[in-house]
Amino acid sequence: MLSRRDFFYSTLALYAAWPTRRLFAGAVRQNPRFTTSPFTLGIASGDPSATGVVLWTRLALDPLHGGGMPPEPVEVEWRIAADDRMSRIVKSGKSVAAGAWGHSVHVEVDGLTPHTWYWYQFRAGNELSAVGRTRTFPAARTDVERARFGFVSCQHYEQGLYTALDHMAREDLDFAVHLGDYIYENPGGPNRVRQHVGGELMTLEDYRNRYAQYKSDPALQAVHAAFPWIVVWDDHEVDNNYAGFTSERDDPVEEFAKRRAAGYQAYYEHMPLRRASIPRGPLMQIYRPFAYGNLANLFMLDTRQFRTDQPCGDNVKPPCPGMYDPKATLLGPTQEKWLIDGLSHSSSRWNLLAQQIMMARLDRVPGADVGLSMDKWDGYDVERARLLKFFDGKRPSNPIVLAGDIHNNWVNDLHLDAADVSSPMVATEFVGTSVSTTGDGIDITDAQRAMVAENPWVRFCNNQRGYVTCDVARNIFKTNYRVVDFVTRPGAPVTTRASFVVESGQAGAKPE
Ligand SMILES: [Fe+2]
Repeated sequence: MLSRRDFFYSTLALYAAWPTRRLFAGAVRQNPRFTTSPFTLGIASGDPSATGVVLWTRLALDPLHGGGMPPEPVEVEWRIAADDRMSRIVKSGKSVAAGAWGHSVHVEVDGLTPHTWYWYQFRAGNELSAVGRTRTFPAARTDVERARFGFVSCQHYEQGLYTALDHMAREDLDFAVHLGDYIYENPGGPNRVRQHVGGELMTLEDYRNRYAQYKSDPALQAVHAAFPWIVVWDDHEVDNNYAGFTSERDDPVEEFAKRRAAGYQAYYEHMPLRRASIPRGPLMQIYRPFAYGNLANLFMLDTRQFRTDQPCGDNVKPPCPGMYDPKATLLGPTQEKWLIDGLSHSSSRWNLLAQQIMMARLDRVPGADVGLSMDKWDGYDVERARLLKFFDGKRPSNPIVLAGDIHNNWVNDLHLDAADVSSPMVATEFVGTSVSTTGDGIDITDAQRAMVAENPWVRFCNNQRGYVTCDVARNIFKTNYRVVDFVTRPGAPVTTRASFVVESGQAGAKPE
């Protein structure tokens, strides 16, 4: 058997040489007659630039059973307008929904006006989609006073309703960020709020059906239709706690590579991503930069595809030699260099690292013993130390780390030495809770209270479901922790549990 490293490089060579799969083959159906709407999975927009945005939909007549579309490609028209009644059309065109890509549609619109709201709609045959709203970014390096965005993660369909997304769709946001665990790969279980259709996801068809089930949720459709989204994955889009080509259960790499390719393809098919993110087998370009004028640079990071295996057998462990392995990595050398270069050349006021896992150290064991989660940055201490040292030495303007993954809200100061609160503060971290994963929460558990007491860089912890909104101004970055009291039954109102501010030029969060 090939070693993981050999396999990785032989795969890279193979897929780098692969031509991108042909978009479609065979005659295109131009005007099919549908007896029911094929727009069952909603619409979305994403990856905004100053002059464009991606418009997305996927045609599915029978969403939970492979989509139920005829095998031939179907022509889809799109229109983008300056008003919500779609009367002042500014761009329109045709695309093709092809079976090889699950009858998904990705339109890269260009030539739009920066910093402007638009509305969009699709037509397939005799059926029209709903109208969605989207917004372009301000041009890079232009003066921008403020932005408002939100971020979420972890939306386990079985463990709770998407009440948080329902509220989020009504927020006044310029864009939104998804930090991963958009779906979960587990088989359906009994006695849940809702039940997954199907078993553990393994094949492309399995993953497609799971996305289709999630995407059939009206709140998820509404929040996508309300503003553009910038998305990245975490682990559950493929397999719990996978690392590179190492699966949770250490399956043979050739086998896991096929599963990862299926997961990545289904992810691409269901997200408003650009052509640059079209997967090639088990490889997909998902880390990428965004510039919101000269106000904020957003670095979307991928801590799954290129990471080395979790040290010390994963899970929560006392410090062990593997944590300090200088070759261990979450980002991989190419992405790390890209990030450092990007931060070094950034002229934006705020530099946001939007990624999956908590960067601050978190001793999870009460008392003298130390227990660290090996799946987080705690398991990759040398790489974290390199990044924190870069923050301290090179002083990129106002680094802010955003994270999800752990299903609770946290606010953390990031110090040069992650384990020493007396070392200089170099950045600030905002970790957002889950939308639904783990179900109804309480304000804080006893175990979490103990963690706050033992980890002096932690400024806040809360154990409810929700989302985070961020008000970005030139001199202040404010986060609002929006929470709902329950998700196992409908109708929970949303409240702001806490707000924190970071002042420009001064790392560290202060309660407001
Ligand atoms: Fe999660």
